[in-house]
Amino acid sequence: MNEKLLHDTACAMVFPGRGILAADESTGTIEKRFKSIGVENTEENRRAYRDLLFSARGGEEFISGVIFYEETLFQNSTDGTPFPQLLEKRGILPGIKVDKGAKPLAGAPGETITEGLDGLRERLTKYKEAGARFAKWRAVITIGDGIPSDYCIATNAHALARYAALCQEQDIVPIVEPEVLMDADNTLEVCRDVTARTLRLTFQELQRQRVLLEGMILKPNMVVSGKKCPAQADHKAVAQATLRTLRRYVPATVPGIAFLSGGQSDEDATAHLDEMNRLGGAPWTLSFSYGRALQAAALKAWSGRRENVAAGQRAFLHRAKMNGLAASGRWEQKMEKAA
Ligand code: 13P
Repeated sequence: MNEKLLHDTACAMVFPGRGILAADESTGTIEKRFKSIGVENTEENRRAYRDLLFSARGGEEFISGVIFYEETLFQNSTDGTPFPQLLEKRGILPGIKVDKGAKPLAGAPGETITEGLDGLRERLTKYKEAGARFAKWRAVITIGDGIPSDYCIATNAHALARYAALCQEQDIVPIVEPEVLMDADNTLEVCRDVTARTLRLTFQELQRQRVLLEGMILKPNMVVSGKKCPAQADHKAVAQATLRTLRRYVPATVPGIAFLSGGQSDEDATAHLDEMNRLGGAPWTLSFSYGRALQAAALKAWSGRRENVAAGQRAFLHRAKMNGLAASGRWEQKMEKAA
């Protein structure tokens, strides 16, 4: 394990003012996204759409890394350049989602465990050869009646740490993503408590399994009100609760925190990140690793038509810029209107 390389890569992933594009939708998930714009889910359409995102000129100003789905790692840009090389040439780090998805957890109705550990060492070797510099594994924690159980949180924390240790063995920086879902009707306080339990056990396991904290990135949810909660906490309350919870459970040696957007509106995801950076004083860099909040507008503008590629790229670059500014606490709401 090359500790310096891991640390340098992790720092580059959260370089001030830049963040990560999560474009690692599985074939099933991208099908849902394509359906919303009436595009057929073929390999060529998936390639063309990802090409739009990756070849948007100027994206490197705000984007430090891209998370690929396995298929994408081995695809080419329209001019024949393999996607990982296309990004590296522009100073963007290629990464890969390596988990095999959340599956029902035995004996725990309504809860899941993320699979994909068997054969992971061999897969990582292959991904590294193809150019991957970092990886991602997402654990899913669901809030509901009597859940999450400690059993579910602990089992997922254990798997996250096993994954992270395997990545570091091959000098691949692990993004550790324990996502507490925001889909229920819970209050912000419930999300805060569940997030606290999740982070506590996750870092316990990471340390037990000898993961180098300097060589990883945490990708957590923000502490928000559930989507169906009638009383929605405002941006400031979300920023304060999120920072406070992270401070309690995330060691300062972790170089960076790159949030997921989790179903927040584009602007909320940006405003929350900005607010946290304005509060300041955090020991880690606070950045983004957004999927939907970076892509929704671009996907709609593109709608699968070749003549809309430029419009799709403009929409993507706008969100990348807004989030890049938020990552240094320099975003203002009026910038959205100006665009
Ligand atoms: P969202 O930002 O759409 O939540 O996606 C980020 C991600 O990578 C989820 O695993």
